Amino acid sequence: MAHDITFSMIKPGAVKAGHTGAILKMIEDAGFSIVAMKKTWLSKEQAKQFYAVHKERPFYDHLTSFMSESPIIALVLQKDNAVQDYRKLIGATNPENAEPGTIRKLFAQSLEQNAVHGADSDENAQIEASFFFSKTEIYTNEQVQASSEVKMAS
Ligand code: CMP
Repeated sequence: MAHDITFSMIKPGAVKAGHTGAILKMIEDAGFSIVAMKKTWLSKEQAKQFYAVHKERPFYDHLTSFMSESPIIALVLQKDNAVQDYRKLIGATNPENAEPGTIRKLFAQSLEQNAVHGADSDENAQIEASFFFSKTEIYTNEQVQASSEVKMAS
């Protein structure tokens, strides 16, 4: 299991409020490479599938309605220790408990509208990345490096 890949979404509230650029800048400034990115609009059904692990929770219906109300940005990010470092960068799920300077502290509106999602394990990062992207849509640093070396040599 790769330890250098995580998955994130910028949620509808933050996209609508015009925070996409500022959030992407924080991600890159923290040393993550954006190895896949897509703006897309989840259907209610897709949001339910993505958050299926929460299907018994009282907030499931509201969360999946919110996640499908307008477009999101799906991201695959690469960095050593990606999952843990990204969770540090975004801060606690509830923005009231998030550290100052974290993405959620700066941009979240509420626990549900908490600006970004971040995968909680290497395994879930892979599952969530493949929910949005095929293998040919993810360009890891190693792939880009190898391919530019081939181009430089020819
Ligand atoms: P996220 O990282 O996207 O993963 C699941 C989401 O469920 C979480 O962020 C929150 O937005 C939301 N969530 C978690 N707990 C609650 C709760 N108690 N009430 C409402 N939403 C919640």
